[in-house]
Parts: sequence; structure tokens; C-alpha cells
Amino acid sequence: PVLILLGPPGAGKGTQARMLEEEHGLIQLSTGDMLRAAVAAGSPAGLAAKAVMAAGGLVSDEIVLSIIAERMHGPDVARGVILDGFPRTEGQALALEELLGGLGLRVTAAISLEVDDAAMIARVAGRYSCAACGEGYHDQFRQPVHPGRCDKCGGGDMKRRADDTAETAGERLKAYHAQTAPLIAFYQARGLLEPVDAMQDIAQVRQALHRIAGGI
Ligand code: AP5
Ligand code: ZN
Repeated sequence: PVLILLGPPGAGKGTQARMLEEEHGLIQLSTGDMLRAAVAAGSPAGLAAKAVMAAGGLVSDEIVLSIIAERMHGPDVARGVILDGFPRTEGQALALEELLGGLGLRVTAAISLEVDDAAMIARVAGRYSCAACGEGYHDQFRQPVHPGRCDKCGGGDMKRRADDTAETAGERLKAYHAQTAPLIAFYQARGLLEPVDAMQDIAQVRQALHRIAGGI
């Protein structure tokens, strides 16, 4: 299957995509992760994307499509993928249809994680993670038991995304409403939309996604 995870920043796309990967053997393809890797590597795409990401805007369709197209031609795709944070514009959604068509595939479902704007800003601002194992923490909601030391692996190096400030999270949310939310109607018109209440706790959202992924 080819599953799309749609939703604003902090909706839980990454959290749930990792679970779907573990439980259903789907491959998580996150354009956010790919872009952050490109920025860290200092590649041309990364250099072009860096300032846009730091300001909370959307990177150009051209750059995003070039990085995702490369991955979509890998052997993973036939096993099933979960697209985390892609597509984010109508142009990307149309390009995805074309890309999949060329591989003899199509979108199976577009899962829309529905959440409340104010809660999203709080989830994103203050978030950080262990640099060694990726375990997630939060200034307000989840501190490690021993300050500065990872509960899971004992590592002491924590990292924070440059765009996880309250101000930038607000800009990311605006970009979502202006450019990505119209995709809800786009996929509804194709009979592919699966709305999920993502204000529920992580385990409940996971159950809902489990049912969707199991039923296709
Ligand atoms: P990206 O990396 O995709 O970031 P995002 O969409 O802003 O999403 P986040 O990673 O912040 O949140 P998430 O939904 O994955 O939530 P998470 O599971 O982490 O994109 C970053 C940037 O890259 C963009 O701003 C843009 O510039 C660029 N970009 C990426 N893709 C692009 C594209 N296709 N086109 C153009 N530009 C693109 O959860 C958040 C927090 O909440 C965590 O702490 C988690 O533990 C917690 N949490 C999760 N679920 C729950 C729950 N149910 N209840 C309580 N807490 C929860
Ligand atoms: Zn760790």
C-alpha cells in the first residue's frame, strides 16, 4: 500500500509513521527528515531549503519532488510506504499521482490527522530528542528522569530542531492551512480520505491507524 499521512506540525505524523513501520512493515518516507539530512550534508538542495525551513515556510515543489522521486524508485516502494509530510501542496499531490502511475502504483489512502491548532503549537515548541537514539522529550510534558540523560540509552547529548520555537511553529501552521489543508478536499474527492481524531492519546491514534492499515 501507499499511505499518506496528512496533518499540521505536531499532529503526530512522525510518531505514528514509525509505529506503522514497526507493526506493518511499511517504509516511512519523511520529506522533513530527507530535507534535514540535505541541510546537514550541505547539498545544493539543502542549501536552498535551509532558510525556508528555519522560517517555517514550505520548500519549493521542485526541490521536494527531486528528493522524493529518487526514493520512490528504490525497491522499498513495492513493499509498501507511508508518506510522512508529503504531499503538502496540490502540485506535489498531482506529481505523486504521476510518479506512482509510472510505477504501476496508486495512493491507497490519505489519512488526515485532525487536531486543534493551539495544542499543536504547545506540542512542537519545547520538543527535543536524544541525539544518540532519537527518543523524544519535551520541556513541559516529558523530561528525562535524570536531567540531561536519556531514559532509554543513557546518552547525554540532546538535540532540538531549529524550527521548534513557538514563533516558527505558528508560521508552519499558517503554511499548513494555506497550502496543505486543501489536500483534504482533494483526497476526499477521490474517495481516499480517512479522517482520524488525533487529539486522542498516542495509543488511541495508533489503534485507529492500525485498523485502517489492516483493512487495506
Ligand atoms: P516536517 O519534518 O514534516 O515537520 P512538520 O510537518 O512540521 O511535523 P513535525 O515533525 O513537527 O510533527 P509531526 O506531525 O511529525 O508530529 P510528531 O510525531 O513529531 O517538516 C519540517 C519542514 O520541512 C517544513 O516546515 C517545511 O519547511 C519542510 N518540508 C517538509 N516536507 C515538505 C514538503 N512536502 N513540501 C515542502 N516543504 C516540506 O509529534 C509532535 C510531538 O507531539 C512529539 O513530542 C510527540 O511525542 C507528541 N505527540 C504525538 N502524538 C501525540 C498525541 N496523540 N498526544 C500527545 N502528544 C503527542
Ligand atoms: Zn537516547
